[in-house]
Amino acid sequence: MTTKIVNGREIAKEIRNKIFEEIIELQSKYKAVPTVATIKIGRDPSSELYLKLRDNACKEVGIASNHLEFDESISEKEVINAINQLNSDATIHGILVQYPVPNHISQDKLMSTIHPKKDIEGLNPYNMGRTLSGNEHIIPCTPLSVLTILEHENMDLKGEDVVIVNHSNIVGKPLAALLLNRNATVTVCHVFTKELKQYTSKADILITAVGKPKLITNEHVKENAFVIDVGIVQTKEGVCGDVDFDLVKEKVGIITPVPGGVGPVTISSALRNMIKTYKNCVECT
Ligand SMILES: NC(=O)c1ccc[n+]([C@@H]2O[C@H](COP(=O)([O-])OP(=O)(O)OC[C@H]3O[C@@H](n4cnc5c(N)ncnc54)[C@H](OP(=O)(O)O)[C@@H]3O)[C@@H](O)[C@H]2O)c1
Repeated sequence: MTTKIVNGREIAKEIRNKIFEEIIELQSKYKAVPTVATIKIGRDPSSELYLKLRDNACKEVGIASNHLEFDESISEKEVINAINQLNSDATIHGILVQYPVPNHISQDKLMSTIHPKKDIEGLNPYNMGRTLSGNEHIIPCTPLSVLTILEHENMDLKGEDVVIVNHSNIVGKPLAALLLNRNATVTVCHVFTKELKQYTSKADILITAVGKPKLITNEHVKENAFVIDVGIVQTKEGVCGDVDFDLVKEKVGIITPVPGGVGPVTISSALRNMIKTYKNCVECT
């Protein structure tokens, strides 16, 4: 049996090409350059790298991106004021906050302050509610990239046993809702799950987003399964995911590598959401 290794970079490139064409059309129709604003608080090395990659992707497709950089000591109120200004600025078509933010600032409050129509990450309670109820509009970028990969590989999710190892608000919870909306049978595991492999080894599709190298080994996966590794960890040997890739790839049917799997598709998913927020802004003015 040959295992298929998903090429996330290629999928991301296909998405960027489509977005590039769409932006040319939209810009000639609405005469406004799609412009997004990113709020960055403090200096987190992995956030900086992600931001750089996203900025490059924006540039490639014709999206202008502005940064608002704040020191770690900024107050929550000042950040909220900055978001409110961006909400009412007609030249800004989308807003992102780079997470994590310092502990004295509530991530939830920032997410709630971003206007739903400009909410690139789809994490505002309104957009999350739409995701949960099946009336999907702006889907959080990482879950969107997982769905994109599944669709790209022509997976029919109906009735499939899917296990997600992560229950964060950014990844596991919205992803579970999206998969339920597509009639998969979904199990969500987390740090308190007893005997993780009891669940993961029965999954037709296993999605892991923990950030622990080699958490998922051969005995955690079902023969011929589809394994999607969202985890990103910087180790001495380089960047890796949650899955013991060399071992697991011998057993499963299809697998995403790290790097070169989910990561690049997540950046392209952010671009897709930027098109949505742009349309929300220009089509209702
Ligand atoms: N590829 C991409 O595009 C992309 C995008 C976003 C994030 N990521 C990566 O995905 C990973 C998770 O990100 P996140 O923001 O969701 O982080 P997070 O909030 O820390 O979530 C980690 C999840 O894993 C669970 N967990 C921790 N240890 C576990 C264990 N031993 N067994 C089972 N579950 C365990 C946690 O459960 P508890 O909450 O109960 O502790 C939590 O649900 C990170 O490596 C991050 O870099 C990648």
